[in-house]
Amino acid sequence: VAVGIALVHNALAVSLSLAVLAYYATYSFIPLVSDVFIKHGRFGKDRLKKDFPVVAESMGLIAGCVYLGVMFLFIPVPFVPFFRQQTDVSGTSGLDFFGVPMFPHETLGQYLAGLLSLFSMLFLGFVDDVVDIKWRVKIWMPLVACIPLLMVYMVTYNVTHIVVPIPFRGLFGLEKLVDLGILYYGYMAALCIFATNAINIIAGMNGVEGIQCLVIGSALLINSLYQVAITTYQSTKEAHLIAVYFLLPFLGVTIGYLRHNWYPSKCFGGDTYVYFAGMTFAVAGILGRFTKTVLLFMVPQIFNFLYSCPQLFGFVECPRHRMPQLNSETGNVEQTRVSLEKTKPLGKAMIRILEVLYLVDVERDPKTNKMISCNNLTLINLLLVKFGPTTEANATLRVGYTQLVFCLLGFCARYGLAFLFYRQ
Ligand code: UD1
Ligand code: MG
Repeated sequence: VAVGIALVHNALAVSLSLAVLAYYATYSFIPLVSDVFIKHGRFGKDRLKKDFPVVAESMGLIAGCVYLGVMFLFIPVPFVPFFRQQTDVSGTSGLDFFGVPMFPHETLGQYLAGLLSLFSMLFLGFVDDVVDIKWRVKIWMPLVACIPLLMVYMVTYNVTHIVVPIPFRGLFGLEKLVDLGILYYGYMAALCIFATNAINIIAGMNGVEGIQCLVIGSALLINSLYQVAITTYQSTKEAHLIAVYFLLPFLGVTIGYLRHNWYPSKCFGGDTYVYFAGMTFAVAGILGRFTKTVLLFMVPQIFNFLYSCPQLFGFVECPRHRMPQLNSETGNVEQTRVSLEKTKPLGKAMIRILEVLYLVDVERDPKTNKMISCNNLTLINLLLVKFGPTTEANATLRVGYTQLVFCLLGFCARYGLAFLFYRQ
């Protein structure tokens, strides 16, 4: 009880405790419900194993429900100081006309809107797993799910200007601050669409969705904790604290899920997990007001999306699955390839550009030099092309290391280059 009382004084400590609880709950619940999911048809075939064994899918639902549960429990915690009438937690005016502390409705609104958007995305992800929604439709789902979040952003922060980097100021004759107005809301909606879908297309090997989310989430958490420690602005501190409250339990459920999803997988997260994870990053970035940092830590996802464009937009054939394949003789996973024989000149031109950049492995007819096939355009396949076939667990680790390297570079850019670009 004493520990409990002590913890209530510190929202961060409560958030950390709930993250640990979320980890244990996710880790314990997944094996309990796996068989029930399989019995009701919620399973996938593990395509990188011999005989395609059946594995329970959509475990993102368990991770997401545990996450929402602990987040609901956490709702009163940041407001304890208000209830104790000690101080105004919003840090704004403090007391009303009668000297009574004012409740920080704005902070509560932000918190609830973030949870509503996350809940919607979790639900839509599960629906996608069950009925396999068409790509043309599902790409827009985050646009609807982010409306509550953007609405609350509008009535609380409504900060729509950006600080123009110094080199662009002289070049385009711009002021230090440029107000993007409604375009800024378009940008935030685009971030929600991007974050959810971009993780979903670096997928298909045991643990690969989880490991990238673990690295991105940890990088965002470290960045926000650092900002909380160094900033002298109360509003920046509160914005980053909200992000921390969203990220800590997310990392808890992700580690719990990843322990079962790691090679050899005993469960798959499904689109439910990747949509929920992507939306968590978008919510943390929007409420914490560090959307550019989120993109900085998602450079591998940006690369993979741009790299995939020729296939995603139909210039080059896009099979249902672009994941690597198992070589049953060696036990290693190898790149998968796509035929270029029916590809139109525009598609071939795109492949040629990638070839010049050493970003694709093209097979050509030795006599005519015509393109016959190339590897499927995904980061996972590209790593297999560059570093050769390896075991599935190693191929997943390669994606994890790539993510880690780019997050470290992201920190250098955020705290090194940003100073050069934005000082003044
Ligand atoms: C996205 C990718 C697709 C990739 C798939 C893998 C695009 C445009 N789409 O499609 O290329 O093949 O993800 O998730 O890039 N699976 C495994 N091992 C794993 C995880 C998943 O074999 O470790 C298989 C299972 O059969 C599972 C299926 O992938 O059922 C899930 O695929 P799904 O999430 O439905 O594919 P998409 O998201 O549509
Ligand atoms: Mg998927």
